[in-house]
Amino acid sequence: MEEKIKALREKMEQQIRQIQSKDNLAAFWQEYLGKKGSIAELMKGLGAVAKEERPAMGKVINEFKIEAEEKYKALSEKMEQAELQARNRLEAVDITLPAKKQPLGHQHPLTLVKEEMISVFAGMGFDVFEGPEIEDDDHNFTRLNVPKDHPSRDMQDTFYLEDDLLLRTQTSGGQIRVMDMQKPPIKVLVPGRVFRSDSDATHSPMFHQMEGLVVDKGITLCDLQGMLDKFVQQIFDANVRTRLRPSYFPFTEPSVEVDVSCFECGGKGCSLCKHTGWIEVLGGGVVHPKVLENCGIDSSVYSGIAFGIGIERITMLKYGINNIGLLFENDLRFLKQF
Ligand code: DAH
Repeated sequence: MEEKIKALREKMEQQIRQIQSKDNLAAFWQEYLGKKGSIAELMKGLGAVAKEERPAMGKVINEFKIEAEEKYKALSEKMEQAELQARNRLEAVDITLPAKKQPLGHQHPLTLVKEEMISVFAGMGFDVFEGPEIEDDDHNFTRLNVPKDHPSRDMQDTFYLEDDLLLRTQTSGGQIRVMDMQKPPIKVLVPGRVFRSDSDATHSPMFHQMEGLVVDKGITLCDLQGMLDKFVQQIFDANVRTRLRPSYFPFTEPSVEVDVSCFECGGKGCSLCKHTGWIEVLGGGVVHPKVLENCGIDSSVYSGIAFGIGIERITMLKYGINNIGLLFENDLRFLKQF
């Protein structure tokens, strides 16, 4: 038996030097230390050894076992170390490399202009209210003095939904909502998306408006022009002026179309103002007494002015954009210019 152990030990020493992989190592363990391995085999063989020799022989086998275990353990640790080092090398982070830059985004031109417009009017004491995009016929039309059979409904191509609901065609319905909630004095802006079945170089089926409403005692058309003068001077150029032309809107009387003197040519005439010296920018007027009464406001005590500004129109004028589609295509080459 001693001979056998000696031979096994030599074989083991030779084998262990040749181990290259974890698989080899596992096989080594099975061969010597496994349940059916050589050492277990030796142990079994002890029964056949003479009784007096058995303790000594057992000791030799045990020593062999310990030796095999130690060799196994040492090699296993060495392999783990090597593996760890290899992984560390692979996953090493070079902290001296320059960082990847995350380019900062910025606001869309429509948002920029909307915010700028709000900030100009906020300077004059206006609050901001936002109404719903799905509006009912009452708020979008009827209570704004546009009954169901009124021809002025044809001024706007409405997307009707079911049950008297529609996609609001204008932010003017916000006037009604504000006056239902609040009694004069009122000074409010209603910015938001509006929808009309209309599409060409200057019209989009979805666009943005900003409504303005002022209701108090003694409010006149002069207040409207004064506020709008301040507005266009801050948005376009400190030297521009406004001009009011008579117009028609069902919810204002009188109604006006507001022009701004051309900020491109100073009024001499150019392609932007179509050689008239003036550019149309918005509509407005004195709130129709019926609209005030529809909201329970006494029109013999209070009066109001209102206006509606197209945010796309102001943005296109301000930045010289000739196609409204550019504002909705989200082409970065365009958006990066703002
Ligand atoms: N709602 C009108 C439109 O969409 C714009 C407008 C005109 C609003 C006159 C007003 C106003 O408040 O007084 O064409």
